[in-house]
Amino acid sequence: MSLYTAFRPALFLLPPERAHRAAICALQRGMVPTSSYRNPSLETTVAGLNFPNPVGLSAGFDKNAECYAEALAAGFGHVEVGTVTPRAQPGNPQPRLFRLVESRAVINRLGFNNEGAAAAAGRLENRQAGIVGGNIGKNKESSDAVADYVSAMQILYPVVDYITANISSPNTPGLRALQAADELGTLIDALHHTRRELVAKGQPAKPIFVKIAPDCSEEMLEAIASTAMARQLDGLIVSNTTIARDAVTGQMHANESGGLSGAPLFVKATETLRAVYRLTGGAIPLIGVGGISNAEDAYTKIRAGASLVQLYTALIYEGMGLAERINRGLSERLSRDGFKTIAEAVGSESR
Ligand SMILES: Cc1cc2nc3c(=O)[nH]c(=O)nc-3n(C[C@H](O)[C@H](O)[C@H](O)COP(=O)(O)O)c2cc1C
Repeated sequence: MSLYTAFRPALFLLPPERAHRAAICALQRGMVPTSSYRNPSLETTVAGLNFPNPVGLSAGFDKNAECYAEALAAGFGHVEVGTVTPRAQPGNPQPRLFRLVESRAVINRLGFNNEGAAAAAGRLENRQAGIVGGNIGKNKESSDAVADYVSAMQILYPVVDYITANISSPNTPGLRALQAADELGTLIDALHHTRRELVAKGQPAKPIFVKIAPDCSEEMLEAIASTAMARQLDGLIVSNTTIARDAVTGQMHANESGGLSGAPLFVKATETLRAVYRLTGGAIPLIGVGGISNAEDAYTKIRAGASLVQLYTALIYEGMGLAERINRGLSERLSRDGFKTIAEAVGSESR
């Protein structure tokens, strides 16, 4: 039994948001074991960035860039902070985060509660080595979504290694409409334009990713894939939480509105990833997210086409030691199957 599993019953007596705050405090106080595990087979270059391993902490855990360094030290190969919006906002009324313990899932309708892009950027200045992405979104009250993404990007860009435009949270009204081809094309063009301006001012060129939902129809996925390829987008993150509830019917809290994540999302998110890999033919790097609980799940995503993976919800049930356990399990699987590197395994199920 890990130390975390011993502590978990006490943590689960707290309301989920309080438990999350306690987890951040524990990280900041050095109460979480660090990982020194390294394996050359796990090193991988994606969109020009060199990752020590393919396992990332997905957006939402460290919304305000308070504990990214500790999460990297715990064994994650990258951390995506955010979602941040240009201006601070409180998010939806509480309660807005629910545990579905039976299926190792959660439902959240936080609604981009965050301290704003400038507060996060301040905490990312003068940081040490390690890959940190900045996940950006729009303010709830804003009527010009594209302008919000541009201004959040301008603030975060100098202090992160990549930018992710989150257009797939189910908790900001109208956000997912940005996934429609015309809207997506306009958004990507605006972000690329912003990057050209920043590069002209002396910033290095950094990758821009877009994060999509697992609830897209095949036609939507086709449109997203072709829009992304036509604009040479640097990567797609597949996926955010789902609004579907079929995998958790009848369970406590299953009818709460918001996005479902964790184990019951795995099949749907992986099918979406597989479809996007087929539609893009490997032309665009994919980051596989959704329901990863162990090394086998991460390996399945990689073999389905993910160059990197990310996770969040499983940490609530397994603790931070999970990053190292997944990395160890991944390198075992690579050598078992005769792959020298992660890159060789990407998409291998369809070859
Ligand atoms: C409490 C919570 C908050 C989240 N907040 C964000 C967010 O701010 N931005 C974002 O892009 N994704 C957010 N996500 C989605 C996760 O990054 C991830 O895409 C999703 O949970 C699926 O992965 P998982 O099953 O490993 O958790 C959040 C997820 C949870 C559980």
